[in-house]
Amino acid sequence: MKINKSEFSISSATLSQCPKDTKPEYAFIGRSNVGKSSLINMLCNHKGLAKTSATPGKTLLINHFIINNEWYIVDLPGYGYAKRSKTQRDKLQQMISSYILQRKQLTNVFVLIDIRHDPQQIDREFIDWLGKSEIPFAIVFTKGDKLAQSKMKQQAEAYMSKLEDTWDILPPYFISSAEKAYGREEILDYIESINEEIKNNSQE
Ligand code: GTP
Ligand code: MG
Repeated sequence: MKINKSEFSISSATLSQCPKDTKPEYAFIGRSNVGKSSLINMLCNHKGLAKTSATPGKTLLINHFIINNEWYIVDLPGYGYAKRSKTQRDKLQQMISSYILQRKQLTNVFVLIDIRHDPQQIDREFIDWLGKSEIPFAIVFTKGDKLAQSKMKQQAEAYMSKLEDTWDILPPYFISSAEKAYGREEILDYIESINEEIKNNSQE
């Protein structure tokens, strides 16, 4: 899929502030600093679209970006940033979970995992929660450029095989790098195939 146009739409602190239209939405989530905003900019080939930062905890709101006037990318705050106060963490968690559970337009969640790290409990809990809540999701390994190509695939496969302990059917996964644009076409094609499916279903 080609992205011809990507624009910031709105930042929302609550679900009720999110856009009122019904275009499909693809949300990006993961630990603070995993590379959500960088991945979004890479996918859109649009530097500065989503705000990135070397300091964790940059994204604090639900950020909508409208793509090709047809669908939305949603940049969510990171979870599990220890330096936040408990009150702020609880508030963010409430914001994220109400968005994920109640937003009807939400079509797919991309859960981002830093490819260099072995499975962490917080990601595992989040993935298990998505599964139990029947939210469709895919996994995107980020920062692939930090590993050699051969190691990259190995790490991703090892991670996925650990998920098999609890999941019979594994979600799709992608290996990405915002620096090197790895995974761009695969992720965009995946989104396009879901958008097509939605269009076809609505015509039936
Ligand atoms: P929060 O909004 O704070 O939760 O962070 P985020 O997940 O949006 O991460 P962000 O995109 O701001 O990136 C965090 C840091 O990781 C920045 O210093 C980025 O430059 C760096 N980074 C992100 N993606 C990549 C990547 O693919 N490769 C490398 N080498 N660095 C990356
Ligand atoms: Mg961010």
